[in-house]
Amino acid sequence: AGPSLPTGAGQRPPPAARGRPAMRPYAPWLLLLALSACLAAPARPVYTNHWAVRVLGGPGEAARLASAYGYLNLGQIGNLENYYHFHHSKTMKRSTLSSRGRHNFLRMDPKVQWLQQQEVKRRVKRHVQSDPHLIHFNDPMWSKMWYMHCGDKSKHCRSEMNIPAAWQRGYTGKNVVVTILDDGIETSHPDLIQNYDPLASYDVNDNDCDPSPRYDTSNENKHGTRCAGQVAAKANNSNCIVGIAYNARIGGVRMLDGDVTDVVEAKSLGIRPDYIDIYSASWGPDDDGKTVDGPGELAKQAFEYGIKKGRKGLGSIFVWASGNGGREGDHCSCDGYTNSIYTISISSSTDNGLKPWYLEECASTLATTYSSGAFYEHKIVTTDLRHGCTEGHTGTSVSAPIVTGIIALALEANPLLTWRDVQHLIVKTSRPLHLKADDWKTNGAGRKVSHLYGFGLVNAEAIVMEAKKWKKAPTQHVCIGSSDKTPRDIPAGHTVHTTSVSNACANHYEQRVVYLEHVVVRVTIEHSRRGDLQINLTSPSGTESQLLARRAFDISNEGFKNWEFMTVHCWGEKAEGEWTLKIQDTPSHMRNPERKGKLKEWSLILYGTAEHPYNTTGFHHSRSRMLEISPSKMESSKAVIFQSQMEVVEEEDEYSGPCHPECGDKGCDGPNADQCLNCIHYSLGSVKAGRVCVSSCPSGYFGDNTAKRCRRCQKGCETCTGRGRDQCTSCRRSFYHHQETNTCVMVCPPGFYSDESKAVNGAGCVPECQPGMYFSKGARKCERCHLSCQTCAGPGKEECIQCAKDFHLHEWRCVPACSQGFYAEEVPGLPYKVCTRCDDNCSSCEGSRKNCVKCKEGFSLQNGSCITKTCTDAGKTLCELVKSNKLCERKVFVWLCCQTCLMAG
Ligand SMILES: *[C@@H]1O[C@H](CO)[C@@H](O)[C@H](O)[C@H]1NC(C)=O
Ligand SMILES: *[C@@H]1O[C@H](CO)[C@@H](O)[C@H](O)[C@H]1NC(C)=O
Ligand SMILES: *[C@@H]1O[C@H](CO)[C@@H](O)[C@H](O)[C@H]1NC(C)=O
Ligand SMILES: *[C@@H]1O[C@H](CO)[C@@H](O)[C@H](O)[C@H]1NC(C)=O
Ligand SMILES: *[C@@H]1O[C@H](CO)[C@@H](O)[C@H](O)[C@H]1NC(C)=O
Repeated sequence: AGPSLPTGAGQRPPPAARGRPAMRPYAPWLLLLALSACLAAPARPVYTNHWAVRVLGGPGEAARLASAYGYLNLGQIGNLENYYHFHHSKTMKRSTLSSRGRHNFLRMDPKVQWLQQQEVKRRVKRHVQSDPHLIHFNDPMWSKMWYMHCGDKSKHCRSEMNIPAAWQRGYTGKNVVVTILDDGIETSHPDLIQNYDPLASYDVNDNDCDPSPRYDTSNENKHGTRCAGQVAAKANNSNCIVGIAYNARIGGVRMLDGDVTDVVEAKSLGIRPDYIDIYSASWGPDDDGKTVDGPGELAKQAFEYGIKKGRKGLGSIFVWASGNGGREGDHCSCDGYTNSIYTISISSSTDNGLKPWYLEECASTLATTYSSGAFYEHKIVTTDLRHGCTEGHTGTSVSAPIVTGIIALALEANPLLTWRDVQHLIVKTSRPLHLKADDWKTNGAGRKVSHLYGFGLVNAEAIVMEAKKWKKAPTQHVCIGSSDKTPRDIPAGHTVHTTSVSNACANHYEQRVVYLEHVVVRVTIEHSRRGDLQINLTSPSGTESQLLARRAFDISNEGFKNWEFMTVHCWGEKAEGEWTLKIQDTPSHMRNPERKGKLKEWSLILYGTAEHPYNTTGFHHSRSRMLEISPSKMESSKAVIFQSQMEVVEEEDEYSGPCHPECGDKGCDGPNADQCLNCIHYSLGSVKAGRVCVSSCPSGYFGDNTAKRCRRCQKGCETCTGRGRDQCTSCRRSFYHHQETNTCVMVCPPGFYSDESKAVNGAGCVPECQPGMYFSKGARKCERCHLSCQTCAGPGKEECIQCAKDFHLHEWRCVPACSQGFYAEEVPGLPYKVCTRCDDNCSSCEGSRKNCVKCKEGFSLQNGSCITKTCTDAGKTLCELVKSNKLCERKVFVWLCCQTCLMAG
């Protein structure tokens, strides 16, 4: 999407690594203070008035003992022979002291072999499984990884990314290959060495196979090593941290430590697309608030090659940091990498859900992770240069590797996900939660989206669960709209509106887009000061994306030349209808107002599918369209009508035509539903904003039959029977329905946990049950789990949360033994083993990594592995690009390329 023609070998200044904010020093005690906030004290045991007793001599003896010592015998415990459940009503129900006295007599009876007073067990909840007490890693910085721990129990950081919960489902990044495109990676770092993969690495700067960073006194080249640790540092190795995908393979491509050219970028993006699954990049053009730059011609082709051919046709996954230019007023739409449909662009929020000072807004941001904030807020701990460990990693550089790690978990859950499936899953599972922004809006597909955070905070557990059951998204269709070449002046201080009614290629079978994914606007604008421009796009569903905000430092007079702005805000909406482009020029004081800007050309490119990408149950069409009639929207459009009516009211003739069918007996001033003098059913809106007659009230409102008006439900209610707090019948997204009180709450009260599985009223608060039980919504009581589960979310074998003793977790089930091609692996923090696939090309094994026992046909066993491969084809993709562009025939390229071309013949 570069504004200029291909420059080929043109040398560009090195892109800015997005870790720069790390330089700020801060007092260590502040960090300690802040870190202690999330770590709750370990819970003390709570004793109940129930006992488990092992009795010799059968049920008769048990009955005798119980009555002799004043207990109620509740019978044998499950199918455990000789074990009985005793209850003592005179003992305190819940106490932090275990009971003595009387119970000692029972203990001393010769027929009693063993007894145990029952403790209240901490219940593992379905959506709040991350229990830091359950997982103990010996990595010294584990306790400081606040964004892994913060759970619902701590007010301080209520919503989390659910990473440990994804591990508990058995996903740790096994067999997924990640590379970090950066300034190198310290391959000998003790926390990286075990997962380091030389086949996922290359040194583009020096054209060899060793991606180790160049060391200098300022440790300038630490960035790649820091990012790599976040993704795949080894767990429980007594060193530094735990990576998000701590069993993934990690490599590095050293490419930022030298002149970065189109060739360098193309080569880096094209390293072994068949072998590497995810490329993580935390760099881009200068975030200085005045640059407009993107991938050159070769880098663009490398992206396209990766998407089409990478991962054996499923498409390479490119994850990008959205940029750190917030302080400079930069807008990530001027960065052609984050703005590309092929990259997953990620933003950051602080642990308090606030906007960090470095955040860049734009409509192409897909989702968000936690990262650093102000000096007193948390930073990120990770591996550092010279075998070190740092507590000071910051900025959006943190966010791209976090999402890279989470995607690695998703790819382990479902290795067949395409590059677009991954984006769908992120859109579907990310949530706004408590992230603060004043521009959250609900799009026409019912998804909340913001220019700061995209679709919100990523959710690792939800993404692996969705990935597991995800069916491939329908084929991508691309509908390229015709270019509007009518030149339009953009007078200073004015807004130019231009519309395009699109049928979204309805007549072309191969291009027809019904449901949108990405939307791209290609524009050519002449302007004497580019930073004064603002551009907005409104979709047929009424969703407004800000494609460009004003940039105070951008004084360029080059305008935009075929620049492509991208928005993801219309994801899931219908494509057909009227699209409106608004360009506003707000001159800064230094400009000659005589020199008008000019919109020379624009066109719309719609990406999406002809069929719905997934079942509609999770997608709220009907409700969303109604939500569009939000008062704020009506205000802007109706205010204009209202005003013009006021001005001409004197001359207006009496209207005598037909009224809208919703109008009541008093008649109307015009044919529309907003021109009625009264309504048959309900009026919606206010005097100020304008009223419209409707036959029934939209969601979020209820019909007041006396006043014949639609009135608002309480905040958070989707439907209600009245205004009261307790009259909600269903709740909006991100609220939970508390059935006992009929209210919509953000956080479920103690004794209840939030259940997001589909219920009649959406997500709800469900009572907690005893261990081994789950809450049955049909029966409205706790019922017993399947015998293979220790805890569960439902009655089935596939609904275990934790497996019972002697069962292993295999896919979704708890099984007595792993099947062929899998081995039972201990997973840190889990009381049971998980069946994990053997290494590639190995048919039976005792573990991963050189523990193969039998190879698949056509492979031979060598030191426990089934394959050997060398590093000779590193430049293969580049060579194809070079060949197809006939670059070796151009003089300037002879030195640069032909050496590479020879390598591959
Ligand atoms: C464009 O959208 C932004 C964010 O929604 C809004 O603040 C701004 O006023 C809009 N600009 C125009 C010209 O409508
Ligand atoms: C869609 O719904 C059908 C029937 O309800 C179900 O069988 C199918 O698995 C669902 N597909 C997805 C992707 O959820
Ligand atoms: C980590 O290793 C220690 C031994 O150093 C072990 O006691 C502990 O259980 C391990 N933790 C996990 C989660 O496996
Ligand atoms: C096999 O492993 C042993 C010990 O780890 C090592 O000494 C030997 O060189 C390896 N052989 C091959 C062929 O890699
Ligand atoms: C398994 O074999 C295939 C085909 O030869 C090869 O491409 C792949 O790299 C091998 N996997 C591993 C982990 O060695």
